[in-house]
Amino acid sequence: MSGPVIGLKKATRSVGDGASGDGTGAGAPVGADIGERPRLITPERFFGQGVVITGAAQGIGRAVAQRIAHEDASVLLVDRADLVHEVAESLADVGAGSVHSVTADLETFEGASAAMAAAAEKLPSVDIVINNVGGTIWAKPYEHYAPEEIDKEIRRSLFPTLWMCRAAMPVLIDGGGGTIVNVSSVATRGVNRVPYAASKGGVNALTSALALEAAEHNIRVVATAPGGTLAPQRRVARGPSPEGEQEEAWYRRIVDQTVDSTVMGRYGTLEEQAGPICFLASEEASYITGSVLPVAGGDQG
Ligand SMILES: NC(=O)c1ccc[n+]([C@@H]2O[C@H](COP(=O)([O-])OP(=O)(O)OC[C@H]3O[C@@H](n4cnc5c(N)ncnc54)[C@H](O)[C@@H]3O)[C@@H](O)[C@H]2O)c1
Repeated sequence: MSGPVIGLKKATRSVGDGASGDGTGAGAPVGADIGERPRLITPERFFGQGVVITGAAQGIGRAVAQRIAHEDASVLLVDRADLVHEVAESLADVGAGSVHSVTADLETFEGASAAMAAAAEKLPSVDIVINNVGGTIWAKPYEHYAPEEIDKEIRRSLFPTLWMCRAAMPVLIDGGGGTIVNVSSVATRGVNRVPYAASKGGVNALTSALALEAAEHNIRVVATAPGGTLAPQRRVARGPSPEGEQEEAWYRRIVDQTVDSTVMGRYGTLEEQAGPICFLASEEASYITGSVLPVAGGDQG
């Protein structure tokens, strides 16, 4: 189901977490800095372009929305949480493009279709679709996952990208081309999250296989594979927090393995994830398609 589209009229052209990892978040409050100019931007890089960003209410999606709005795109921010409208309001005056937001459940094809219909209606053109929804819900050895939990993990971390790519293709083809950037994970080789790893392996396969078909339509399909990323406390929880010593230990194993797998010995930042996503989305990456770029401090996934 999708909610009302909120559009914010823009002016004319201007130049212008404690470690959350892939589990529960903890740390600084979210929100105060969203309208601020990010430290690194390429002004006008997306001027005149229309960009859809999913999962934009918080975390990596929100950081991407912040950067792309500052780089002068018109954006449609999509999320299941109403919080996405707050993010859009905070970005209303930062760049040259218009800012819109819509709620939709991207675990359904209906939600993805409604999001793309809103994009076609609200944006001057639809040039870039960034599929960012996903995230581990539970942390445990595979034999401890209940069948319904496995089902939910796949729905959370594979289907939103699968449905959005399906819904985006006709719109991009009609527009004469474009770019799809999927957000995967290096946790395809991660402990205590086999269903999530399988989902993101699916995202990688979707990216390379769709790129083969999409090239003739002037469409690039690429992905980043983030590693553990520092973020403020999540306002929209992914699921229940780990409870009890055993679940805490299973979650801790994820965090330890995430850091140990890097060569840099640390988590990344939201900015360090947003930068490569924006690069792949931009014309600077015009000869890159079908690739999955690890962004994980040296962990290749
Ligand atoms: N944070 C990390 O350390 C990390 C590491 C590797 C990969 N990733 C990937 O990066 C992406 C973003 O991660 P994050 O930590 O910023 O995510 P997050 O959990 O903080 O935020 C995800 C957003 O997606 C929205 N969402 C969830 N299900 C939805 C649905 N069905 N329809 C619409 N919106 C929905 C949520 O409301 C939320 O705003 C995910 O795909 C995740 O798997 C994250």
